[in-house]
Amino acid sequence: MSNALKEYLVCVQNRVERALDLRLPSENILPNKLHQAMRYTVLEGGKRMRPMLTYCTGKALGLKEEQLDGPACAVELIHVYSLIHDDLPAMDNDDLRRGKATCHIAYDQATAILTGDALQALAFEVLANDPSIKVDASQRLKMITNLTKASGSQGMVGGQAIDLASVGTMLTLPELENMHIHKTGALIRASVNMAALSKIDLDPIIAKKLDHYAKCIGLSFQVKDDILDEESDTATLGKTQGKDQDNNKPTYPALLGLAGAKQKAHALHEQAIESLSGFSAEADLLRDLSLYIIQRDH
Ligand code: IPE
Ligand code: IPE
Ligand code: MG
Ligand code: MG
Ligand code: MG
Repeated sequence: MSNALKEYLVCVQNRVERALDLRLPSENILPNKLHQAMRYTVLEGGKRMRPMLTYCTGKALGLKEEQLDGPACAVELIHVYSLIHDDLPAMDNDDLRRGKATCHIAYDQATAILTGDALQALAFEVLANDPSIKVDASQRLKMITNLTKASGSQGMVGGQAIDLASVGTMLTLPELENMHIHKTGALIRASVNMAALSKIDLDPIIAKKLDHYAKCIGLSFQVKDDILDEESDTATLGKTQGKDQDNNKPTYPALLGLAGAKQKAHALHEQAIESLSGFSAEADLLRDLSLYIIQRDH
């Protein structure tokens, strides 16, 4: 990872931790157990890649970090909700997440379902009301619409449905790509677009280039996630290694082999860089982030 990216990542991780802490209800508010579970799953964990993308895109567009706290929190809240539900016995049945017991293990299944539900609602409450967001009401509505679409049946949830329906089957490459673009790519794309929509009067050509960058890294992110599931280890990942094979999931390494999957991740990185060709050094963090996504070890 470049030194500039490392430094900025630490800064973003601290910033988003504080911002999330401020926006989550206190454990002392009823229902205490639900609020405890929300704080347990959201705080102190995760790489915070989606907020990082929001802030790095903001930097490329000359936006202030203060303007992006709300959108960055909103995407991370949706992401954590998706992880809690993804780990449930009815889905991937995982007991380890971010190095800790998953929500349904630390609490119980009903609490895990409700925690996901509540985080999803909180994400949209943040987008609708957060004072950090400085755009006008119609632009704010565009942000809400973008995140709802990215989260719903034609975004992340749709991808998860395809994932579950595909267990034990052999997907074609276009089918696998479609599943990944939805289950993981959609939210990553929204993380970039949340920043683009925070910029008033953004040139639509710039917006399109950023969206294409995000589409490429959204897919490479899940290709790399599949690779790590195969070749990393549980301690480094903070989640159980080898679950995809155990659960008979169609993945890039299963279809293309590890070397083929790595080649695909690299090709997507190159496409992502190409999408940013008209940008100056302000977009260097986005360039570095694309490389980090395919080189990370967890
Ligand atoms: C894991 O996402 C689930 C996917 C969508 C691939 P991350 O690898 O970003 O998980 P955290 O947030 O760092 O825990
Ligand atoms: C999850 O994909 C995508 C989500 C929408 C959460 P995975 O099932 O591969 O994520 P991990 O490996 O459990 O983090
Ligand atoms: Mg899954
Ligand atoms: Mg999973
Ligand atoms: Mg995975």
